[in-house]
Amino acid sequence: MSSRYDELATQAQAALETAADPQQLEEARVAWLGRRGRVTLELRAIPGLPPDERPEAGRVLNTIKNELHDLWERRRSELTARAPEEGVGVDLTHPGRTPFSGRLHPITRVRRRIEEVFRELGFDVAEGPEVETEYYNFEALNIPEHHPARGMWDTFFTRDPPGLVLRTHTSPVQIRTMEGQPAPVRIIVPGRVYRSDTPDATHSPDFHQIEGLYVDEGVGMTDLRGVLDAFVHRLFGPDVPTRFRPSYFPFTEPSAELDMGCMSCGGSGCRICKGTGWIEILGAGMVNPVLYGFVGYDPERLSGYAFGMGIERIVMRLHGIEDIRLFYENDLRFLEQC
Ligand code: PHE
Repeated sequence: MSSRYDELATQAQAALETAADPQQLEEARVAWLGRRGRVTLELRAIPGLPPDERPEAGRVLNTIKNELHDLWERRRSELTARAPEEGVGVDLTHPGRTPFSGRLHPITRVRRRIEEVFRELGFDVAEGPEVETEYYNFEALNIPEHHPARGMWDTFFTRDPPGLVLRTHTSPVQIRTMEGQPAPVRIIVPGRVYRSDTPDATHSPDFHQIEGLYVDEGVGMTDLRGVLDAFVHRLFGPDVPTRFRPSYFPFTEPSAELDMGCMSCGGSGCRICKGTGWIEILGAGMVNPVLYGFVGYDPERLSGYAFGMGIERIVMRLHGIEDIRLFYENDLRFLEQC
């Protein structure tokens, strides 16, 4: 009797041990331990045995059954642990994980877009230093020392070495470029600028500007207006209205600010445009001939225009962003929306 059970146990063990994948293992389990499995059938047959054999048969068979069950569990975890690398047990219907892809910061994207628009209009891209001398940041731009116009820019000054400033605008590159080459000059200047402003929804101590400068023979205010209209229409759409408002900058004469129709309300007046229907986007004007004296250009022969805009403000208009600080916090929840 017990040798028959031994035989049974050995065969069942072999079947479980040699199962090569989860499916074969399941077949072995059903064949030996399932409801009509051979071990189960032997257990069910116990009541038909002679009464004195039953207790021993029950003990032996239950031990075999428990050992086989343990073996089955061990084999099952072995086979499923191995499954992925063998391509077994992989759920092919499971949705894939989307790989994280980085993207450009909105400031970079819009800067590149603006550069592209002006390149198409014939402008080159120029750059200049962020730490400037007062000469380039102010003096050569017709803002002499002690002139009240210096108060238009809240300036960071260096302590060591003293006498330098963090440029408050990209306009010093106008001077540097004209110094370095004869007219005609047609450039835009993207770059970072600094002002000692307290951060709030519309101010940041460092931000980005794009400067424009065109100096040639016979350049007039209408050229300026035309180029800025083309720019606004390419960036914001062909139907956006623009207007010039008189303004003042020491380095341009006359000076103006360019407004565009508020995109949030379409011009009817809302919170964004403070009810006016217009949004200011840049400062501009005809290059003040005083500047030509600093760079050795002939003011009798040459004339030109210049403009300067804050990139953040443009991105805010494009995307309806209301707080400039969002650009610098690098919160992915924000960046991924732009
Ligand atoms: N530099 C000026 C500013 O930062 C903008 C400007 C540039 C105005 C060029 C006119 C011409 O406020």
